[in-house]
Amino acid sequence: MPFYTKLGKLPPKRHIQFRRPDGALYSEEVFGTEGFVGPTSTLYHIHPPTQVIGWKPLYGTEVEYVERDVMRMRHSKSMQLPSKGDPVTGRTVLFGNSDVEIGVCAPAEKMKYHFKNAQGDECIFIHFGSGTVFTSFGTLKFRARDYIIIPKGVTYRIEFDEPKGDEPDPRFLLIEVANGSHILPPPRYISKQTSQFLEHAPYCERDLRTPELPLTFDKKGEYEVRIKSRNLVHSYIYKYHPLDVVGWDGCYYPYIFNIDDFSPIVGKHHMPPPIHQTFEAHNFVICSFCPRLLDFHPQAIVVPYNHSNLDSDEVLYYVQGNYKARKGIEVGSLSLHPQGIPHGPHPGTVEASIGAKETNELAVMCDTFRPLYPTKAALDIDDLNYPRSWEEEHFPVSIASGANGTASGHANGHSNGRSNGKPTKKSKSPSTKKPARAGKTANTWD
Ligand SMILES: [Fe+2]
Repeated sequence: MPFYTKLGKLPPKRHIQFRRPDGALYSEEVFGTEGFVGPTSTLYHIHPPTQVIGWKPLYGTEVEYVERDVMRMRHSKSMQLPSKGDPVTGRTVLFGNSDVEIGVCAPAEKMKYHFKNAQGDECIFIHFGSGTVFTSFGTLKFRARDYIIIPKGVTYRIEFDEPKGDEPDPRFLLIEVANGSHILPPPRYISKQTSQFLEHAPYCERDLRTPELPLTFDKKGEYEVRIKSRNLVHSYIYKYHPLDVVGWDGCYYPYIFNIDDFSPIVGKHHMPPPIHQTFEAHNFVICSFCPRLLDFHPQAIVVPYNHSNLDSDEVLYYVQGNYKARKGIEVGSLSLHPQGIPHGPHPGTVEASIGAKETNELAVMCDTFRPLYPTKAALDIDDLNYPRSWEEEHFPVSIASGANGTASGHANGHSNGRSNGKPTKKSKSPSTKKPARAGKTANTWD
């Protein structure tokens, strides 16, 4: 993170004697990035973090991509993937390249070990569930719609709460850095002089939840830490609890940002995707499409124009929305719109959206600057009709209006198409001068 913080006990200066109650020295560890010229934190352990009593390779994690030479629209229905494994072993990568891996996880078991991803930062977007992440920097309580940013090298264990009543089972989206860069807020949000979030940024320090107590677990025994490095998960055994830090300070630590705390920027005319940007790493960005008021020019078209994002592949993960007026897209869907072919609103959805005043849907987008490839797991849940869903034969021009007055107007959504296999009757186009119906909404993701 760009700003300095601290937790627990610290000596008054770096690199001086700092003693445990029994008189022995605490073990100082400098946790540095980019050859110690990037963000860094300094931690004080009860035990030397170097003391391991055993290690062995466990399993490989190299992702195998398929159809690397095929460029087409894709749509994967990730809710079809059953719960499996724990919050680490249950992960399924769906799309990726040499910069980033995008996957989902619906864990069925608890983690009985701690985990350290020593090859990439992780952005865990909690779709369903709540719980606690215990980390070497302290404890983070999480809830649905939290982005949990866990930088490379942080030891942690995720513990989900048991779902209550009819709450859905835990499920999260995972965006993992594969190129060694770090997930950070866009530099344009940050003051060059003070690293403070600037006034135009859609979120700021108050929206970020940093680690809290408890921090220190002073226990002896045999503790496993699984370390992912070089696309191999290793099992390391320590003779003390791995979360034995009594204090730390610096600018490198895990934290949480809830997507509902993103303050959308709205405009007179359609605002481009960068206004939704939340994080970035080298060669990809993460954006939050949140409920917001729509463009307020009296003749505004509130859905995106057709667009060729010439240097990006675009993945949208659909979190929440009214999909009754759409065909195909569901909660938990991932759509992939590749560079090389334009995308835009489905037939009928531009007219249908006119007059809408707000959007109530929620999505996470990951745009990559190099082509993404699917995995076999993505093909297994592939919606093969999606690439042709812009054809008028499949989706004749109609005014698509959901039961709640929701217009289906997103580039990635589907208009009301057929009823019983026949084209729906074309409705009268609304006049641009006609006042909008109260409560009319539209889907406007780019
Ligand atoms: Fe787009």
